[in-house]
Amino acid sequence: MAKQPRPLAGKVVAITGAGRGIGRATAAALAAKGARIAVADLDAAAAEQAATELGPDHAGIAVDVTDAAAFTAFLDDVERRLGPIDVLINNAGIMPVTPLAEEDDASVTRQLELNLHAVIRGTQEAIRRMVPRRSGHIVNIASLAGRSGFPNLATYCATKHGVVGLSEAVRAELRGTGVEISVVMPGLVRTELIAGLKDARGVKTLAPEDVANEIVSALEVPRFDVFVPRSTGPLIAVTGALPRRLRELVAHALGADDATGKADRSARTAYEARAARSAPAAEEHAKERSAA
Ligand SMILES: NC(=O)c1ccc[n+]([C@@H]2O[C@H](COP(=O)([O-])OP(=O)(O)OC[C@H]3O[C@@H](n4cnc5c(N)ncnc54)[C@H](O)[C@@H]3O)[C@@H](O)[C@H]2O)c1
Repeated sequence: MAKQPRPLAGKVVAITGAGRGIGRATAAALAAKGARIAVADLDAAAAEQAATELGPDHAGIAVDVTDAAAFTAFLDDVERRLGPIDVLINNAGIMPVTPLAEEDDASVTRQLELNLHAVIRGTQEAIRRMVPRRSGHIVNIASLAGRSGFPNLATYCATKHGVVGLSEAVRAELRGTGVEISVVMPGLVRTELIAGLKDARGVKTLAPEDVANEIVSALEVPRFDVFVPRSTGPLIAVTGALPRRLRELVAHALGADDATGKADRSARTAYEARAARSAPAAEEHAKERSAA
């Protein structure tokens, strides 16, 4: 018998990086289900505007999730203003596109801190708050780059594989606690993050709303692996069973490497500049450490 969907009305949902892109679309989809959303973003104006558009039951809050104390204070603030957090969506992330040999240490540090360390911290915070209540759902946004490797995305792939591994391990730790975890693995989604990527044969881009709808469905009927589109799940399972050379031939035939491998990097200037400002607290701490 099909499982009854869990109602989302009245649930308190905190989403990081929800001022634009996938986070913002997810906030809108969950608000439409009656959830109350804390829209968190480094960009205060974007957070405020997104929350205002959602309506009076929601809050827009500026936070840099690479600042551990500020992240904790944000979650405390949400619980004071909206009530205990039922769902935390660790979504904020950046994707610099560069050959690894050309990547500077600041870019590596930013991705490790934002795409992985902040997700680890967010997951810890959620566990500590949700397990005593024996309810809650953690949603970590990884990527197909968390299951495969793509050229010009080596550090990004490392962080997203990290998010998948983290989520797998935490799933095992959470068994029997009443707290759920999901890991979301979208393909290419039409946000500023993919500016300048080449249209690749066999690789269809998605709307942010496609990802949002899959997150809603994974919260209503909990499931761990959330592939977007869903067809990529079986595709990864089948190709994963092939010998590596054959697997790479299939990927090549689908043009899977072209999107990032042949990206027009000049069309990414505005995005890359924004991404380079995405982990101010982490960079400050790195400077303090090297000066000490
Ligand atoms: N767009 C894609 O193709 C795609 C595919 C798979 C996975 N993802 C993942 O989805 C997530 C969202 O990506 P998107 O495409 O919506 O990107 P986006 O750039 O449109 O949105 C990311 C948001 O995160 C915010 N942010 C950045 N640093 C922050 C910080 N330190 N603290 C709080 N907020 C911060 C930004 O201000 C921005 O509003 C990322 O984790 C990304 O890796 C994206």
